[in-house]
Order: sequence, then structure tokens, then C-alpha cells
Amino acid sequence: MAHIDTALLSKYDIAAPRYTSYPTVPYWTAEAPDPALWLERVAQAAQTDRVISLYIHLPFCESLCTYCGCNKHITKNHRVESPYVQSLLQEWAMYRRVLPANVQLGEVHLGGGTPTFFSPENLRSLLEGIFKTIPPAPNAEFSFEAHPWSASEEHLATLADLGFRRISVGVQDFDEDLMQLVNRRQTIASIEQVTEKARALGFTSVNYDLIYGLPKQTPEHIERDAEYLARLLPDRIAFYSYAHVPWLKRSQTAYSEADLPAGAAKRALYESGRSLLEDLGYRDIGMDHFALPHDSLYQAFENGSMHRNFMGYTTTQTRLMIGLGASSIGDTWDAFAQTEKTFTAYQEAISAGRLPLIRGHFLSEEDQLLRRHILNLMTRYETSWETAHPALDAAIARLEPMLADGLVQLSPMRVQVTAQGQAFLRNVCMAFDAHYWRRQPQGQLFSRAV
Ligand SMILES: C[S@@+](CC[C@H](N)C(=O)[O-])C[C@H]1O[C@@H](n2cnc3c(N)ncnc32)[C@H](O)[C@@H]1O
Repeated sequence: MAHIDTALLSKYDIAAPRYTSYPTVPYWTAEAPDPALWLERVAQAAQTDRVISLYIHLPFCESLCTYCGCNKHITKNHRVESPYVQSLLQEWAMYRRVLPANVQLGEVHLGGGTPTFFSPENLRSLLEGIFKTIPPAPNAEFSFEAHPWSASEEHLATLADLGFRRISVGVQDFDEDLMQLVNRRQTIASIEQVTEKARALGFTSVNYDLIYGLPKQTPEHIERDAEYLARLLPDRIAFYSYAHVPWLKRSQTAYSEADLPAGAAKRALYESGRSLLEDLGYRDIGMDHFALPHDSLYQAFENGSMHRNFMGYTTTQTRLMIGLGASSIGDTWDAFAQTEKTFTAYQEAISAGRLPLIRGHFLSEEDQLLRRHILNLMTRYETSWETAHPALDAAIARLEPMLADGLVQLSPMRVQVTAQGQAFLRNVCMAFDAHYWRRQPQGQLFSRAV
């Protein structure tokens, strides 16, 4: 196992964003952006790019996993499905009206909540309703998040039939007792079945989400996880650091903070996971992400074409991402906008014919410049520039202590993250976060960097 420098850990284990966007959401300045202005930006971006990404948020779950940091609504009432699908189709129609006739779909991701909460029939009517209005681009990638407990063979067959070839299975940890502690209903057999059935039905890329730092999780759990991984060999693994944000997610107070591995103990879980994954042939491709060398995300990392957006790391370079559904975020590259968080408020607005935007941000030139460098660091562990800019000079100055600690190599117009610095990638990116340094948070906004 790699040596863990505890002094560095305590120095850099501060609250830090994950940079799925820049500026990060707490620094967005547009309250309730004008839908007409937002749609104008969407239309302009589609004119330039012609290929778009679609994120569809399906917020329902049957039961509450207490660790969960996502936007969801817990219910066992499946009558919510149809009206929600209708709202999604109405929202899509508002976007489709402003898109050029020859636009194509490069990427679709169904996220949650639990997309497999919805019946296969309802998923089909949602997707067919969209697909009849926009053709797929060549090499389009369609993916979805599957909860092993609810992803049935019918779900998989329906989505395979609709062109889905990527599945992301929420595993978190294979240990059933550990999962019970966080109120997650799942069995090892259900993970094995969903994996085998997906492959038999033609899914070419299986991703597992794993989390380190869960309550009472130990290095022995991670070692046992690696034994299952050795057998099931998912193509990609997201090995997430548990984000503890009890001020935002009350369910995280269901367990004692004393049971949460922190600091060096948490980092030890990551280091042991990483070396076990490397032994299995996985390669580190970015913050918390691993892939087998045959996987397209690994190849994109290798040839420098990997991209990152609100969906995480992707191989598709599309800059325009339209978000559909409650709490979803859209990105035109020069603007962001987010919809109402509760599904009831979202549906009410949509049925009144209104796009329910609750916040957003129109990026300045400086924002776009810094966004590019943060994206480079997140996807390639390095960035460089040819024209000096005061915001970049300021970033270099903020990185001096990390140079002294061996986390980065610096020249006046280039930053390279060292092997040791990769564990502190969020901290390196923060040096470029001009919004953060102009107005440092008074309260708690972000989870810790380690
Ligand atoms: C919307 S959830 C997964 C979909 C599905 N509901 C499931 O549970 O399998 C997406 C992923 O976010 C990750 N996640 C959720 N809460 C997290 C937290 N507090 N810290 C780190 N990762 C988290 C989990 O790995 C999860 O699989």
C-alpha cells in the first residue's frame, strides 16, 4: 500500500468542491434566470454544436439509503410515474421547439433517484417520445443508473432495445450487513444477476459505483469487495469518497459521526482500494475513477479527449447538455440553469407551460477561461496556457505551498499534478477557483477533500 503522509492529509483535508461545474453551484449569481434568455443560449449552443447531451432526472426511490447525497423523493406509490413522464415530455417539447431541425442526440443519461423505480413501459414511452423528435448521432452513448434490487430483466431488455449499452450499477459496498446499516436493501446475488443479465443482453460497458468512507467500513470490507470485483470485472469503477453533508441531508444523522472513517483512516480505505484495483488491471483515470484498458473511457483518458460535466467523466465531447426533470442542471458552456428541486413544484410549473428555473449562472470570459483549466486538471492532471492572465497568475501563486509539498510541478504557464498530488486534485483545482477566493464561504458548503 502507498505511504500516507498524515501531515499532508491534515493540511489538505478541507471542505472542497468536486468541480462538476465551474463556477460551483453556491457561486452562481442568477436567481430565477429568465427562461427565454436561457432557451436563447440553448438554441445558440445547438447551432454551433449540432450534437447535444441529455440528462434526465428520475427522482423516485422506494426506500431511503441514509448515506445518499442525491436529490430524491421516497415513495412506494407508483402512480407518480405517469404524470412525471408527461411533464418530462412537455419540458422536452419546450427545448425541442428552439433546437435546429438537424440536431442529434450524442448522449443520454438516466439518473436518479432510481431510474428503475419506473416501469419498463413508462421508460419506453418517455424515451420513444423523445427519440421520435431527434435522431441519435453516430456513436451515441445511452446509459442509466440501476439499483440492483429494482433493475429487472424487463428493464434491461427494454433499455437495450432502445439503444442503451451502458449501465451504471449502484453497489456502494458488497457487504450486506454494512448496507443494512445505511438502510440499503440489496444482495450480492442481485448485483451478480444484474451484471450477468446486462452483458447477456448486449450492454458493452458495466460501471459499478462504490463508496469508501461509509459508516463502520473497514479495510477488510474493501478487500472483500475486491474479491467480488475480480470475479465480476466491471469495465469501469467509480470509487467515490463518501460525502458527509448532514447540514444538507438530514438522513446522514441516522448514524454516529464516530462511526465514519475520517482523515488517515478514510484515506487508508482509498489507498487499499486503489492498489487492489490496480492489481486487478484497473487504471486510475481521474478523480475517484478507474477503468480497464479496453474501456472507451480509459482510451479517452489516454488520448486526452476525456470530458467532465454534471454527469461525471464522459467520452462524449458535447458541450451542450440539456437537463430534464426536477433539480436537473443544464449547461450551454457559457451558462448553467437548474430546475425546481421538488417534483411537485416542477410538475406544477411545467403543466402551466413554464420552465421552472430556480437558479443559474451566465459565465463571464474569466469564468470560461478558469473552467477550461479546471477541466484540464480534472481530466488530464495538467494544464497550460500561452497568454498570461491575472487570474492564472493568482492561481500559480496559490499553488506555491503545494509545490513545496511536492503535490504539483509549476512553470509560469503550466501546472502538472504529481503522483502524490493526485490525491489532492480538488485542492489543486481550488487554486483556480477565483469565485471561492473572492468570497470564501462563511458556513458549510462542501464535503471534505479526502
Ligand atoms: C443517484 S445515485 C444511484 C442510483 C440508484 N438510486 C442506486 O442507489 O443504486 C448515484 C450514485 O451517487 C453515489 N452517492 C450517493 N450519495 C453519496 C454520498 N453521500 N457520497 C458519495 N457518493 C454518493 C452512489 O455511489 C450512487 O450510486
